[in-house]
Amino acid sequence: EKGGYEHFMIKEIHEQPKAIRDTMTSRIALGEDVKLDNIEITKEDLEKINKVYIVACGTAYYAGVVGKYVIEKMAKISVETDVASEFRYRDPLIDENTLMIVVSQSGETADTLAALRLAKKSGARVMVITNVVGSTMAREADDVFYTWAGPEIAVASTKAYVTQMVALDILALHLARLKGTITKEEGEEFKKELLALPEKVEDALKHKEVIQKFASKNYHVKDMFFLGRGVDHAVALEGALKLKELSYIHAEAYAGGELKHGPIALIEDGTPVVVVATQEKIFDKMVSNIKEVTTRGAKVLAFATEGHEEIEKSVNSALYVQKTHPLLTPVVSIVPLQLFSYYMALEKGCDVDKPRNLAKSVTVE
Ligand code: F6R
Repeated sequence: EKGGYEHFMIKEIHEQPKAIRDTMTSRIALGEDVKLDNIEITKEDLEKINKVYIVACGTAYYAGVVGKYVIEKMAKISVETDVASEFRYRDPLIDENTLMIVVSQSGETADTLAALRLAKKSGARVMVITNVVGSTMAREADDVFYTWAGPEIAVASTKAYVTQMVALDILALHLARLKGTITKEEGEEFKKELLALPEKVEDALKHKEVIQKFASKNYHVKDMFFLGRGVDHAVALEGALKLKELSYIHAEAYAGGELKHGPIALIEDGTPVVVVATQEKIFDKMVSNIKEVTTRGAKVLAFATEGHEEIEKSVNSALYVQKTHPLLTPVVSIVPLQLFSYYMALEKGCDVDKPRNLAKSVTVE
């Protein structure tokens, strides 16, 4: 059942190119409008929407953090991403002009379901992105976007996460075309980049050896830090969560610009820091962050896009992922981070498919 792999997690990491392809097929094709079967929102519905919430828990929440950047940039609507357990108890401002997007692999998470029901009761239009056909959330939402990741057995989410981001990307494209905030040509360009993702993810899987090596040198550490800006910050958050869950190493992610506002006090000689630096526009800012931590003795593993090999001058190890649209880099750059947490856990002898204290589906608060 593990198809020759040692664990479900590593099998599911390798299934990501297919999961992404399956999630795109039948929905996007060059020269055609986006086709979304169970999403009926119209141009008229969209005209009155002045606020979008993306609400979820854990990894699904981090997919939502990326979704905020993509929807705001493409569809020009203000988006707020929140964790479901906070959202449900904070009296959020919701009315019939609100679009609520909940993201849940299982479609059953208690807090996310409660947030969905609250939004529905307050008159919002409710959309769900889920991996389970006929799940409670799929039954209760107005619109449903199924991720076709296939069953995810490992407790730590990998292939569901990347397909959640792809779903949000496709949704952003759909909303943007309905609203006319991007041109047909821009839409085609974005689609081309989306369709090229499976191959780029496949390529990112090739970095196993470098990652394994970095893991074998660092698995004994107590703390690690992850830095990024923009969508790279979202990737850093998810990378840190994966490492915590799988290897029980304390990991914190920060937005690069926040470093000076406190976290830098924690950097000492030998502290490992993972830097995600895929964003062209703010690449130099990340290089400054790297200098700030290496000056204090940090050991840096950096992730950049091909063409930025100059980063090697400032770090201990560097890895390159293929270039894509700046909003789509998280789908590719998370892959080496998933592998990193997997190999760290293996080095430490942890149960990768069933980390301690965790459950696959959290149906109680
Ligand atoms: C982390 C992980 C969890 C889930 C979270 C939400 O690897 O799997 O953080 O993402 O419990 O679960 P769903 O998506 O089923 O609502």
